[in-house]
Amino acid sequence: MIDLHCHILPGIDDGAENIKETVRMAELAARDHIHTIVATPHITKFLPNSMEQIKEKVQQVNNVLTANAIPVTIITGGEIFSDQAEECLSATIGSTSYILVEFPMSYLPASTWNDITLLIDHGLRPIIAHPERNVAILHNPNLLFDLLGDNISVQVTAGSLTGEFGPSVRECAFYLLQQGIVDFIASDAHSTIHRIPQLSVAVNKAARIVGKDRATAMVTKNPQLVLDNKILER
Ligand SMILES: [Fe+2]
Repeated sequence: MIDLHCHILPGIDDGAENIKETVRMAELAARDHIHTIVATPHITKFLPNSMEQIKEKVQQVNNVLTANAIPVTIITGGEIFSDQAEECLSATIGSTSYILVEFPMSYLPASTWNDITLLIDHGLRPIIAHPERNVAILHNPNLLFDLLGDNISVQVTAGSLTGEFGPSVRECAFYLLQQGIVDFIASDAHSTIHRIPQLSVAVNKAARIVGKDRATAMVTKNPQLVLDNKILER
């Protein structure tokens, strides 16, 4: 499996604190049959040069994982805020045109449609991260549906499907699956205790709604198309 959203890089955001925790996260991921992880530290307009640092860190982590015989490869990426899109255009997944975009948790900024359009106008393909955890979308999923279009995809967080964020977030995640608008399940892992790098349990939950093949594609075929910079099949 491929995990498209994971805060595994050490000492860079609120994810892994140090390389020890990074290695433990990678071990957990490997145990769950995850072979590739996109490192998606939070990128903000206050860290405009951070992509070079992130590439360096990814290289260092991959060297450590190889030395420890952990069969996981880390790919460069980032997670940007929609209302800082213009300042964070370089935070793509690898050298693809895909970029992971999150909204604030408690509201949807009035600029959101313009922010997503700006990314598209720059030739990027926004992946909307965990919309089920945004309070405004949770109460009115139409706010999300109104944003969707060509080259815009949706990532639901594994913990949302397993109930880690409570019943209302879980119900919203299930509803988005039922509506057929979910392209990816990713861990959004931050540690080895809470929000861990594990996908299999969530995939099984999703399979009850969309069927095994489609649920599996959300952690295999679909993220592979992203890494290959190809268009998603819908
Ligand atoms: Fe995240």
